This record gives sequence, structure tokens and C-alpha cells, in this order.
Amino acid sequence: MSVGIILGSGLGWFADTLENRVEKPYSDIPGWPVSTAIGHAGKLMTGRLGEIDVIVAAGRAHLYEGYTAQQVAYPIRELAWRGVTKLVITNAAGGVNISYKPGDLVLISDHINLMGVNPLTGPNDESFGPRFPDMSEAYSSAYREIAKHAGAALGLTLAEGVYAALPGPSYETPAEIRYLRTIGADLVGMSTVPEVIAANHMGIKVLGISCVTNMAAGILPQKLTHEEVIETGARVKDTLAALLRALIPRL
Ligand code: HPA
Repeated sequence: MSVGIILGSGLGWFADTLENRVEKPYSDIPGWPVSTAIGHAGKLMTGRLGEIDVIVAAGRAHLYEGYTAQQVAYPIRELAWRGVTKLVITNAAGGVNISYKPGDLVLISDHINLMGVNPLTGPNDESFGPRFPDMSEAYSSAYREIAKHAGAALGLTLAEGVYAALPGPSYETPAEIRYLRTIGADLVGMSTVPEVIAANHMGIKVLGISCVTNMAAGILPQKLTHEEVIETGARVKDTLAALLRALIPRL
């Protein structure tokens, strides 16, 4: 039994701190989608974080690369097969909630799937889970409490927020961001939701952490760039690493 960790854009370096690390490029794992996005490492690593066995997927595939939702969610099937029952998923997100600021880490409390696809479309494999899986606690509230306590011990106050997922790859328009705020979103991004649906399907509990890499479109008088996303990810890396190290043994 081990903890699975999926690291998003610019957040892949965390895996370098694992003890007894063994790594495998995604291209060596049959069925595993290879990320083509800049800032995504593309390696599966096993190792130890103190007393805990972890499997870390550094880099993920996205719908905007042309992968199907099933392909994007495949790593979760593989992690489950390798014994993962607890999953920590990180991503880079735009801040829709104006009380956030770039560099904040936010615990995902729920999501809104605006991707237009679902990884469970098609025949259901009953060995994975039911045809109509419940999503009423897609992100474990117990895990969020653990993360808050771990964060507090490090002097971090972790807000919670609803993550809206769009297919991308274009960033949102200011009108789309106002719409997302109206429907209850606090964060916006182009990942995570297919994986979280697949995890819930298999009964894997999920902790989701967004790194607010930028304020969403139209909030600040500036354009959005992928460079800003990567730079902010790099800026918070030590904080996120400390948080992950503190909370993972408590899950
Ligand atoms: N929008 C969508 N995805 C993102 C953003 C954003 O502003 N920032 C990082 N990923």
C-alpha cells in the first residue's frame, strides 16, 4: 500500500527529494500517456518519504495535447494496480477568487467539470468500480483537515476552493472567468478532473492541491503566459515540498 502523488506543471522537482528513488520514463510504461507540455518531466518514480512508500508521477498528459479523457486518466489505473489507495494530486491553476494571490497553495474542495468529457464514458469495467460512481466527496474532507494541520505547523494558512476544469489550451477570456466565478469556481485549470473521476471510481481517496500560479484572465491588467505559470511554480517549490513531506505520513 502506498501513496500516489501526481505533480503538475513546473512542480515535478519534488520527486528529486525521494529516498531510494527508482525512476522510469513514461515512454517505457505501456499505455502511459507521454506529456508533451513544457514544464512536465514525464517520469514515474518510486521511493520513500520517511517511513512511507510513495509513487510519484512527475508530469501528466492533458486533453489539449490530443489525448482522450481515458488516456489522461490511465495513470490512475496504473497507480491503483501498483497498490496506491491514497492519492495526492497537484496542479497549477489560475486564481478566480480575488482573495487569492499568485504563489498561494489552495486545497481543492470540489470541482466543476467543464471539459465536456469524462474518462468513464464507454463500457464500465466493474472490476474498477460502479457504472455511476458517487462524487459527493470527490476530494476527501478528512485529507483536507490533515493538510490544514500540517500547513499550520509550517505557518501556512491553506484556503479551500472549487476547481473548474476546461479543456484549454487557450487561457480563458475575462468573460469566461466572470462566468466561472458566478457558478462557484475559485480556481481554473486544464487538468486533474479526469484523474480525480477515475480515482473516485476505484475508491481511491484524493487530496487536491492547486498552486495559484497567476490570477485568472481579466483580474490584473496583464496578459497570461505559461512562463509566469512555470516561474510561480518554481517560486513555491520549497513550500509545497515541505507541505507534502509534512502531510503525506499523516494520510
Ligand atoms: N487558466 C487555466 N489553466 C491554468 C491557469 C489559468 O489561468 N494557470 C495555470 N493553469
